[in-house]
Amino acid sequence: MELKENWLKQGYVDESISNIDNLEESFAKLKKEKNAVLMAHFYQDDLIQDIADFVGDSLALAQFAAKTDADIIMVAGVHFMGETAKILSPKKTVLVPDLNAGCSLADSCPPDEFEKFINQYPDHKVVTYVNTSAEIKALSDIVVTSTNAKAIVDSFPADEKLIFGPDRNLGNYINGITGREMILWDGACHVHEKFSLEKILELKKENPDAEILTHPECKKPLLMVSDHVGSTASLLNYSQSSSSNKFIVATEAGILHQMQLKSPDKVFIPAPPNDSTCACNECEFMRLNTMQKIYNALKYSWPTVEVEEDVRVKAVKPIERMLDISAKLEL
Ligand code: 13P
Ligand code: SF4
Repeated sequence: MELKENWLKQGYVDESISNIDNLEESFAKLKKEKNAVLMAHFYQDDLIQDIADFVGDSLALAQFAAKTDADIIMVAGVHFMGETAKILSPKKTVLVPDLNAGCSLADSCPPDEFEKFINQYPDHKVVTYVNTSAEIKALSDIVVTSTNAKAIVDSFPADEKLIFGPDRNLGNYINGITGREMILWDGACHVHEKFSLEKILELKKENPDAEILTHPECKKPLLMVSDHVGSTASLLNYSQSSSSNKFIVATEAGILHQMQLKSPDKVFIPAPPNDSTCACNECEFMRLNTMQKIYNALKYSWPTVEVEEDVRVKAVKPIERMLDISAKLEL
């Protein structure tokens, strides 16, 4: 129990693990023995992406979690991604390497306050971004990711009144491209909000042939100077299909690994944040995951992600609605 409490507090790692010579190989063996799969978000360290069975954006990870026949789903991402996997596959063991891997955007939307907010608009449908707790999903009519948000909002009749939460930047962006006037919850991701428009424009001046690729969680002025706005998967696809050979990438820097793998001859420049001398912008929650913690989690089947059953049965409906629409639209 003491061990588990330590893990809960600080992402405990068994010291003997740091002495394992070839951790990747030992991990692959253990994964086979336990019939486990490792899925990783694009914002993970390069090595974690390289050893994962599946790498994708938030939508693709949810789709993968809903379909896998593994007994254990390991989520190298953040907690809400583990919760989504658990909600969709309640009989499976879902592991996250470090329970401290939260999300500032999910935290910007406390369930009790969000419930009071939506109760002010009883004639509105509630659309929420997947970056939320299970409790918020349980209060929602449908969940979206940045890959399918426009298509799902478009799927509502034009006169249907909508609330969108928690990301004000994504909500504003979707309002702009759909012509809707969704009522927005005032939340944001601290990583995407801190890109420096000034430094990005300087980079563009130095690299006039580069296209600016931006995630819609960023602020509007940055979206306005961008050549392409989209989810991580959309930015990755665009970087492959564009005739341009150089890109300034304004989202968490982990995505550059896949971009470079898919287009080895193209140049990818990470967009800088405004608060440091560092050239790129990383999510400290995503980066809590390490190879050691991943091995440790699988070895001890801990920490698990748990969702109260009454919350899960409410939360699964809006997620399944999202997956059904996405499947029909082949997203
Ligand atoms: P997507 O992978 O859906 O683009 O989301 C980005 C993100 O911020 C995940 O936390
Ligand atoms: Fe949350 Fe932002 Fe990190 Fe994504 S990048 S997990 S939205 S804090």
